[in-house]
Amino acid sequence: MRKKIVVGNWKMNNTVAESVTLATDVIGALGEGFSGCDVGLAPTYLALDAVGQLLEGSEVQLVAQNCHYENDGAFTGEVSARMINAIGCSYVIIGHSERRQYFGETNATVNLRIKKALSEGLKVILCVGETLAERESGVTETVISSQIREGLTGISHIGAIVIAYEPVWAIGTGKTASSSQAEEVHLFIRTLIGELYGEPAFRLVRIQYGGSVKPSNAAELFAMPNIDGGLIGGASLNADDFVAIVQAASV
Ligand code: PGA
Repeated sequence: MRKKIVVGNWKMNNTVAESVTLATDVIGALGEGFSGCDVGLAPTYLALDAVGQLLEGSEVQLVAQNCHYENDGAFTGEVSARMINAIGCSYVIIGHSERRQYFGETNATVNLRIKKALSEGLKVILCVGETLAERESGVTETVISSQIREGLTGISHIGAIVIAYEPVWAIGTGKTASSSQAEEVHLFIRTLIGELYGEPAFRLVRIQYGGSVKPSNAAELFAMPNIDGGLIGGASLNADDFVAIVQAASV
């Protein structure tokens, strides 16, 4: 039985003070010793330190939204996996569609970032997903297959990787993939991971769904056999909504 994992991706939202308030509310609402599913919070880099201190001693994991593939050097505006690790993150999100769309992230740079993150002992949430045009032209599986094969080239440590399936057309748009649409792609991803890494990985890899998950649709999505939790954007900015989603993953 795979333990579900729900992560709040706060994206470029909240000052440090606002992040501390939101994290405090989430921890308070979850209650001490919460263990229904794995939970993570991904504030901006600026707030990692303050939120990390709050999470100490709680079950909630600190997650970074990205990391660079060099340890240090002349990369203005970037933060390295080494720094992410040193500040107390256990997971890092890599290859989010917004990184691919607005910041030139490719499967090749995703691969470099994953390798570096793993070498620093971080666990990785690898995001994949098709655009609306790709879905409509029938190439969803081809796109996702390349994102996974190229993103994971040369990587053997699949146990430290969670996949997040996030159809680009469902992110922040209020349009959610139906539970059966999502399940179909999740099964495709699981089968591909099985082909690449063997039977235990087929059974054990966790695949989150992301894209307009809300308290009202979370339970139906999480009830699907191959959906192992969610990567939550908009709804994670409200503590009550986020905790309701965590609870839907904890039944
Ligand atoms: P959303 O974002 O929940 O706002 O659609 C999900 C994500 O991008 O991780």
